[in-house]
Amino acid sequence: MMRSSSSSSSSSSSSPSLSSSFFLSVLAVALGVQAVRWGEPSSSIMMVTAFTISTSSSSRLSVATSSLLAATATDSLMGPSKELLDLFNNQVTQEFIASQTYLSASIWFDSNDWEGMAAYMLAESDDERVHGLTFVDFANKRNIPLSLQTIPAPPSLTEWTTPEDVWQSILELEKSNTRSLLKLAEAANNCHDYAVLAFLNPFHMGQVNEEDKIGGILAKVRDENRTPGLLRSLDLVSGELGGQAGGGK
Ligand SMILES: [Fe+2]
Repeated sequence: MMRSSSSSSSSSSSSPSLSSSFFLSVLAVALGVQAVRWGEPSSSIMMVTAFTISTSSSSRLSVATSSLLAATATDSLMGPSKELLDLFNNQVTQEFIASQTYLSASIWFDSNDWEGMAAYMLAESDDERVHGLTFVDFANKRNIPLSLQTIPAPPSLTEWTTPEDVWQSILELEKSNTRSLLKLAEAANNCHDYAVLAFLNPFHMGQVNEEDKIGGILAKVRDENRTPGLLRSLDLVSGELGGQAGGGK
């Protein structure tokens, strides 16, 4: 009887302990899952401590700890931010604006008898359109919602009076495109969208090459007054460069 009573007493005193332990463990798991859902940047690995309360035969409480390693707060849980989606849409527009601007430059050079530079600008216009379509293709694969925006009119032909004016506009256009791409990459980085970052990499390198190339041409165009005939030979080279364009980023 005594043993039975003691056993019964021990059993009844350990029941609340088991119940508390179970409750606290469930609470710890719930907190861990919730923390992951919130996507705390600093909680890529969350350590949640659950306390297990047990009762010794002398009714003395001892506290043991167990650790729960929660899942990581991954990018897939966070998803693309609204800023990223908006900037992606803007980049599509930016590429088509660039295409229109290059086309306008081609028309200006052609109408001023610079056929080589006209051919170069026309090829670049095609290239920029391909860039825009590449962004559209990627967006479709990733289910990024796209809404085409208004393309503002390119610089008017009357705004340019010399080849230098046109090349200067083109350099500014490329610098603006570089800034736009970097902003987009920053937004992708902020929400850990590594696929977008990987997609953008060739475009960043393309911008480095474009700015370097156009900066070099602009410097030579500015040298025209000191080097007779330079602009004509540059026109010839530009035509050849235009023939090689296409598909580059
Ligand atoms: Fe582009």
